[in-house]
Amino acid sequence: MLSGLLHPFRGLNLLWVLGREGATDVALSLAPKGSFPATALGLLGRIKSGRAKRRSPGTNLAHALKRLGPTYIKLGQILSTRADLIGEAAAVDLSALQDQLEPFSTEQARAVVQEALGRPVEDVFTDFDAPISAASVAQVHLARLKSGEDVAVKILRPGIEKRFDRELRFLRWGARWAQRLVPDLRRAQPVGLIDVLRAQTAMELDLRMEAAAADQMARNFKERGGLSTPSPFWDLTTQRVLVMTRVYGINIDERDRLRAAGHDLAQVLTNAATCFFQAVFDDGFFHGDQHAGNMFIDARGEVVFVDFGIVGRLDWKGRVFLADLMAHLLEGDYDGLAQRYAAEGYLPKTASTQAFALALRSVAEPIVNQPLERVSFARLLGQLLAMGRTFDMSLQPDLFLLQKNMLMAEGIARSLAPEINIWDIARPLVRDWMIYNRNPISQLAEHAETALEVAGRLPNMLEQAETALTDINAEMDRRRSSGPIWLWFALAGAGGAGVMWVLTQVLGG
Ligand SMILES: Nc1ncnc2c1ncn2[C@@H]1O[C@H](COP(=O)(O)OP(=O)(O)O)[C@@H](O)[C@H]1O
Ligand SMILES: [Mg+2]
Repeated sequence: MLSGLLHPFRGLNLLWVLGREGATDVALSLAPKGSFPATALGLLGRIKSGRAKRRSPGTNLAHALKRLGPTYIKLGQILSTRADLIGEAAAVDLSALQDQLEPFSTEQARAVVQEALGRPVEDVFTDFDAPISAASVAQVHLARLKSGEDVAVKILRPGIEKRFDRELRFLRWGARWAQRLVPDLRRAQPVGLIDVLRAQTAMELDLRMEAAAADQMARNFKERGGLSTPSPFWDLTTQRVLVMTRVYGINIDERDRLRAAGHDLAQVLTNAATCFFQAVFDDGFFHGDQHAGNMFIDARGEVVFVDFGIVGRLDWKGRVFLADLMAHLLEGDYDGLAQRYAAEGYLPKTASTQAFALALRSVAEPIVNQPLERVSFARLLGQLLAMGRTFDMSLQPDLFLLQKNMLMAEGIARSLAPEINIWDIARPLVRDWMIYNRNPISQLAEHAETALEVAGRLPNMLEQAETALTDINAEMDRRRSSGPIWLWFALAGAGGAGVMWVLTQVLGG
């Protein structure tokens, strides 16, 4: 309750950091010229530091979010999947947002482990080393079990749940106000964005979910091979502590080390790309944070993924959507694709299929007409997702996550073996997939499977997430209706305006 009263002051601090770091530029580029938000952002931009003036808008936003802490870093990660909203350049800059923070001490880590496992650390581990990495949600220690096995131990930051909860409440409060003051913002759904952030962090704050996701992906690839993940030790894994087998390998972007270890880069890339498409098309279950830090190449040249904090899912319909896109767009068959999307119900009945085909052509031609090795399917998908807003297409949210991961995968591929375009590897795979899955019998089977899956696996997770959201919404509504918040807002507004005015006088000349 008391914490809610501090929201206006948190708001001022937020504005201050956004202004100083120059994070307003990205927002300014979106606001209609001459509008109230544009004026306000312009004013705020005048307190920008000298350093920020020399950086790109997206980098400025990344710096601001990093300075604001864990919740904002996560917000930045979600925003980085929304090139359709903030533009491609800013999305790419945001993807580079480093999720590295000061580690907490090994003493604290041991205390968390002891508390979680209910017995002294020495009873389980013979060695327990200093952290090897520290990010906004968790850090990782190397350790050795009494049984002699080398493991990695991922541990949640102490107090991180409370901090996220407090800041998410504030952000939701802020998003509601922003939406109320600037009705145009409603189209970008700021409150919805915060709800996505809450649902995602809820997953990341339970390391059992991460262990389960790693386990599931390992199972998916068990028969096929080509990809593995660390195995969780379930009896040593709790919400706050994840003990898993140690991974040995070379990060996938370390060209020289890979070569020195005798790997054929083209082969490594072909395998990695094949695994990527299998995960997306065959399983509809993909790693949601495919940067090189999370991808290793083992002695056999196969992929080892770590870090399953974010995973994406695509149901059958989403996979067909993608397959159609690849099959038609790369052939330049815009009318065919538009008709397909209309038939599948992606386009609202009111939309003109011809106009859609024309729009597709306008965004795709510049990309498709590049030399083949430079054609970026991720950018094609990005353009399509951005167009989806104009044409009011009904799109699965995880397509945005997938698009960002495709961009990252393309980046890695380019640095590993620039002469190979991973979409050439994909094409035959997608064609086979289409031939196999587009016949009526397998469609029926797939629908049955999806129905079973939804019945069996997802409801618990979704229900929990939904209950949490309903609770939060109810709580927020209750708060909103308690009058004095107006007073706080007025006070904060007046204070903020005063501070801004003084600052612009002093700093802006
Ligand atoms: N099972 C493991 N074996 C060896 N190293 C690991 C393992 N899990 C994580 N790491 C190392 O710790 C780093 C951080 O772990 P990660 O799960 O990616 O955490 P974060 O979510 O903080 O990025 C990884 O980039 C990797 O270098
Ligand atoms: Mg990681």
